[in-house]
Amino acid sequence: MTTPATPTAAALADAGLASRWSHSLMDNYGTPPVAIVRGHGSTLVDEQGRVMLDMLAGIAVNSLGYGHPEVVKAVSEQVANFAHTSNLFATAPAVMVAEKLRQRLIPQDPEARAEVKVFFCNSGAEANEAAFKLARLTGRGRILAAEHGFHGRTMGSLAMTGQPDKREPFAPLPGGVEFYPYGDAEALRALALQAPGEVAAIILEPIQGETGVVPAPEGFLRAVRELCDEIGALMIVDEVQTGAGRTGEFFAHAHEGVLPDVVTMAKGLGAGLPIGAVVARGEAARLFTPGSHGTTFGGNPVACAAANVVLDHLDEECLAAIRLKGQRLAAGVSALPGVDHVRGRGLMLGVVLERPIAKQIVAAGYDAGIILNAPNERVLRLTPPLVISAQEIDEAIRILGELIAAHAG
Ligand SMILES: Cc1ncc(COP(=O)(O)O)c(C=O)c1O
Repeated sequence: MTTPATPTAAALADAGLASRWSHSLMDNYGTPPVAIVRGHGSTLVDEQGRVMLDMLAGIAVNSLGYGHPEVVKAVSEQVANFAHTSNLFATAPAVMVAEKLRQRLIPQDPEARAEVKVFFCNSGAEANEAAFKLARLTGRGRILAAEHGFHGRTMGSLAMTGQPDKREPFAPLPGGVEFYPYGDAEALRALALQAPGEVAAIILEPIQGETGVVPAPEGFLRAVRELCDEIGALMIVDEVQTGAGRTGEFFAHAHEGVLPDVVTMAKGLGAGLPIGAVVARGEAARLFTPGSHGTTFGGNPVACAAANVVLDHLDEECLAAIRLKGQRLAAGVSALPGVDHVRGRGLMLGVVLERPIAKQIVAAGYDAGIILNAPNERVLRLTPPLVISAQEIDEAIRILGELIAAHAG
């Protein structure tokens, strides 16, 4: 048996970033099709000099695009001062983000807001992991999670992820999680009522993102809220993808006028810097006590400096603009031949194609000057930077139309 030759350092240096990546990084993501070297506004430039309109934003992360001057200033100033302290010390950026998140969860009622508290971490999976641990601390054993839902890749968040193909290789996972059909209030109720006093929490995404941008049916979040009130369980809403203005409200649950007990966040909150947060109220906000949970980097001042900019940016005017831009994008894309329908809300849209060509379209997009994403063969996910302009949206619709026509078969 011959051992494959190890490329020399010189050969690797010439090989391009994507092959150097696959040489040195584990294969869990496969080999990236493109290597990014520059970003500006809503566009990215790759190693070959291709300029691409970014309709993915690092999977709903880069909310203010690339090189946003306020983010650059806030992050630069913070990193030049101190980049990290650990949670043994308080810092202004973390306190300010926590105060703003409390305000966002309960804008109207200062008394109720006094009961809201925040835990910081570094990613969506960690936020859901923390929510899982909060649920355990209620002393009840059952957690009800949605089929096809996605909550992350750590063992606890994976345990609540309703996708057997992602879960099974890592069994045994933490126990006590049972799955209900997403959007089916009757089935969820029947499952909960099998042992209602044992249900610690019901978790759901307002729109299932990784599954293909599948929104909960109208009224479902309200039904979950009522069921949680009836049986004394926590309602945990995973806003990792939908939160921080993505759907045109700061939190997607606000579209239904419900107030969860626990909200998990990450992605767009940090404008590209890694941050996660759990925002909880009432009893759920008091479950963690000194020593019960923690993370070294949680509330990192540089990430929080960026999050403060995001929170300040997302005022009512900006959220209204996101709703309008979302409508423009949805209307333009719905009218394209080859598109069956468009679903989702604000700037989180799933384009359901008539034919299973989504992955081909993503691959062809790089040459056509657009970055897209396909959660499956029938759906393109559009989650551009929230600062994308109307002209850029029109350009994306135009390119998408050409790509779909070219792959119509
Ligand atoms: C709804 C939802 N929850 C949790 C996660 C996991 O977040 P992270 O990848 O930051 O761990 C994701 C990631 O896509 C998500 O979409």
